[in-house]
Amino acid sequence: MHVPIDMNHAAAPLGASIDELDTPCLCLDLDVMEANIRAVAEACAKRGVSWRPHAKGHKNATIARAEVAAGAIGATCAKLGEAEVLAAGGVRDLLIANMLAGPHKVRRLVELRKKADPVIAVDSVEQAEPISRAMAEAGLKVRAIIEVDIGLSRVGTHPGEQTLALARALVKMPGIDFAGIMGYEGHLLTIEDQDEKLAKINAALDILSETKRQLVAEGIPCPIVSCAGTGSYLISIAHADVTEVQAGGAIFMDAFYRDKCRVPNLQFALTIPVTIVSRPTPTRAIIDAGRKTLNVEVCTPLVLGRADIQVKRLSAEHGELELAPSAQSLKVGDRLTSPWCFTTSSTAHAAARSWMFGMSKRAAG
Ligand SMILES: Cc1ncc(COP(=O)(O)O)c(C=O)c1O
Repeated sequence: MHVPIDMNHAAAPLGASIDELDTPCLCLDLDVMEANIRAVAEACAKRGVSWRPHAKGHKNATIARAEVAAGAIGATCAKLGEAEVLAAGGVRDLLIANMLAGPHKVRRLVELRKKADPVIAVDSVEQAEPISRAMAEAGLKVRAIIEVDIGLSRVGTHPGEQTLALARALVKMPGIDFAGIMGYEGHLLTIEDQDEKLAKINAALDILSETKRQLVAEGIPCPIVSCAGTGSYLISIAHADVTEVQAGGAIFMDAFYRDKCRVPNLQFALTIPVTIVSRPTPTRAIIDAGRKTLNVEVCTPLVLGRADIQVKRLSAEHGELELAPSAQSLKVGDRLTSPWCFTTSSTAHAAARSWMFGMSKRAAG
């Protein structure tokens, strides 16, 4: 069943066909999303690895609860605000896979800790100390894992002595429960040669294994070894020391994951029906969706089932298509569907709000 993810379409009658919705309109196929959720949950369960799906794409407690119901242990968040939303919706085990710093965030984290059991990522004493102090003053402790830089060169400690020194400091902090390590192999997702991709991801994750070994050798337990996104999870779940994976966008799937990361066995759950509004030349068609609707940040949008139509250029609200001879009979008013690259976060906000509307409609139906 498709649900329109746009409050302007709230009046669409239950059971309306996707073809009856005005365009452009972000649609979520609930059956496809649920099948994707099941597929990732089952793949993780088969390997005995926990699934902590990233919620940055949906930011939505209803979806997070559906993931937990399918076997996820909780969720991963990119921001404190996402964790607050999910905690308010009843999800307790929340990894905030980003560095929280500053007094406002620390105060909010203390409040979050009263409602949920978050895990924070840390990469320096300077960042961890104010959090520990505030937690201790409130009579609380928060779980913390060290983010180790396994090659992404974003945040994270250097493997080896820098990581060990931080762990030694964390175990002494009164408001912190040291819980393990994480790393993100996000720089290795699009390696074309699949053998090379496998080898490089395993080598990056071996850095986490070695870090865990060093911690345990010092008597510091390291129960959590967290990593992976959709573009790598099938490799990461097979790594011996990984305890949990953060793959999240998998539940929506998109062209980037399929074509650039070669992720198999998942289907596109988010699509955008569009309408051709102008046919200036035989080879050019203009659609009513531009870059404010179709995300071009990570990959060029595709027109589903139409290899003979290429997205050439997107203005804010115009989309320019190039038509091969077999597509040149298309005329003004014809409709096409493009899979949506879920990483457009502004659209994700809209998706999150109105998906609940879609769910309640389905429940009512
Ligand atoms: C820390 C972290 N984990 C995992 C992911 C992967 O997320 P997804 O599976 O939604 O692509 C990302 C993506 O940016 C990330 O930053």
